[in-house]
Formats: sequence, C-alpha cells, structure tokens
Amino acid sequence: MSSGNGAAPGPPPGSGVVPALGDAALLLRAEGVTKNYGPSIVLRGLDLQIARGEVLALVGDNGAGKSTFIKILSGFHAPTSGTLYWEGRATVLTSPTQARALGIETVYQDLALVNDLTVAQNMFLGREPIKRVLGVLPLTDAKAMRLRTREFLDQVGIRLASVDSLVRDLSGGQRQSIAVARAMQSQPKLLIMDEPLAALGVREGAHVLDLVQEIRRRREVSIILIVHNYSQIFQVCDRINFLFAGEIVLDVATSAITEEELIRMVKAGLGAQAAARPAGSGS
Ligand SMILES: Nc1ncnc2c1ncn2[C@@H]1O[C@H](COP(=O)(O)OP(=O)(O)O)[C@@H](O)[C@H]1O
Ligand SMILES: [Mg+2]
Repeated sequence: MSSGNGAAPGPPPGSGVVPALGDAALLLRAEGVTKNYGPSIVLRGLDLQIARGEVLALVGDNGAGKSTFIKILSGFHAPTSGTLYWEGRATVLTSPTQARALGIETVYQDLALVNDLTVAQNMFLGREPIKRVLGVLPLTDAKAMRLRTREFLDQVGIRLASVDSLVRDLSGGQRQSIAVARAMQSQPKLLIMDEPLAALGVREGAHVLDLVQEIRRRREVSIILIVHNYSQIFQVCDRINFLFAGEIVLDVATSAITEEELIRMVKAGLGAQAAARPAGSGS
C-alpha cells in the first residue's frame, strides 16, 4: 500500500478545503438534493461532486441516507428536490435502465448474482452472446461466453481458477469481484459500490480493495465507494465525503489528512452540526 507522494503541496492538513473542479474534469455534481419518505426527511440539501477517474468514499452512520442517495444516482428513486448534473448537464434520471445507459453502474450489497449459475453465465445474465445456427436458430453461445468471461476477468485483474465454477461455490470476496466485473462490462463512467466490504473478512476484503485499486489505476472510471473502515478508505480513495443529518458536512482529500485527523474531523463535524441544529428539529 504505497501512498507516498509526500512532496506534493496541498491544502493544509485538516483544512477540509477541496479545490473546485473545472467543468471538463467533473463527471457528476449533485446540488441541493433532498429526499423525503413521507414525513421523514432523509436528505436535506446534499451537495457532492466527483471528478473523472476519481475514487470517492461516502461515509456516514447507519441510516444517514447513503443508500438513499445512491438509489437516486442509479435511477431507482427520484429526489424530492435538487439537481444532478451529469457531464455538465442537468439530468433527470427516470429509471435504472436510463442511468445505466448514461454510464452509471451500481453494485448493491446483495450483488444480484444467481448462485446456481456459473461465473460465465452470471457475467452474461440477460445479455448472452447468440450464435445463429443455420442463420435462424438463436442459441446461447456458451463457448464464446466462457472465452469472453476469461478475457474480461484477466483484463480487470481477477484471478479465478475456472469460469465454470458455480457462483455458490465462490468465496464472498470472489462473488463481490464477479459482481464488480459484471458491472464493468458495459464500460461505465461511474461505478457505485454500496458497502462492498460489509460482509467480508479482512483478507476477502483486501482482494476487493485490490480490484478497486486496479480500476483506479487506469483513471477511466469514477467510483463512489461506501465503506465504514477508515484504513480501507485511505488505501483506495482520493477523497472522502461525510454525510450527516442529510448533508455533506465534510469534503476532504485523503492526501490532505491522516486517519487520526479524519476521526477528529468527523467528531468535530458531528459536534458543529449538532450545535447548529436547534434541539428537537428531528434526526
Ligand atoms: N423506501 C424507504 N421508505 C421509507 N424510509 C426509508 C426508505 N429507504 C430508507 N428509508 C429510511 O431512510 C433513512 C436512510 O436510510 P439509508 O439511505 O438506507 O441509510 P444508510 O444507507 O446511510 O444506512 C433511514 O432512516 C431509513 O429507514
Ligand atoms: Mg446503506
């Protein structure tokens, strides 16, 4: 885990100042996003931006609204108010299909893999390559599927003994990797991972982090990663956004702070926010 470009000047540690991005560098900007579920207000005006090729950690307590925001970004939920700018344009996401067509892929915690199918079959679920027999009979081209799966896993740096293994026989980390690989197939511009490490042990998690690192190295895909473990964040993320009480209260580059400083800042952010909010104004 080398993180050493210690000579680079940056904002003073702990300042939390993140320079504004030029339009060309910006992939996505959320402005003033709110979300109510009936009377319950989850997001209260969330501002967030992510650059092309950047890996952003989204952190916050359970129930803070991280998944809610992710579901807005992946077209599942409409925001109550606010605007999403995708590649500089105000964009209304009306469905997950539309979000995917724009280049937004999401890997959810349940992964949506089919346990009783092989790795190759899962990779092509719903988009199997078809071989035309005598020009008429459409058959699933299993050989092409296996070959392409192998090629693709090699490309993204996933080592797996066989693409014919049933998904149910893989480890949790391998399953997570396959779900990421499947999302990467459509060459998304933004890959969102909602708690990809939550169900994994340290070693399994490390494999998934390696995969994130590998994707990051190429700087072709932006990633929003929801993770709870700060040391994992520092391993693979460029920037951290802390969601609290429905807003981003902290936006800081990982190169500008240490893990200990982050912990202090999160606590201070919590304190400042609580002080700013009149008592009894809801959670
Ligand atoms: N579909 C829903 N209907 C009503 N309330 C919801 C719904 N989804 C989430 N919530 C509520 O919104 C809040 C934020 O949830 P969530 O976005 O899942 O938080 P996080 O992912 O940060 O743990 C929670 O209080 C949760 O109970
Ligand atoms: Mg969640």
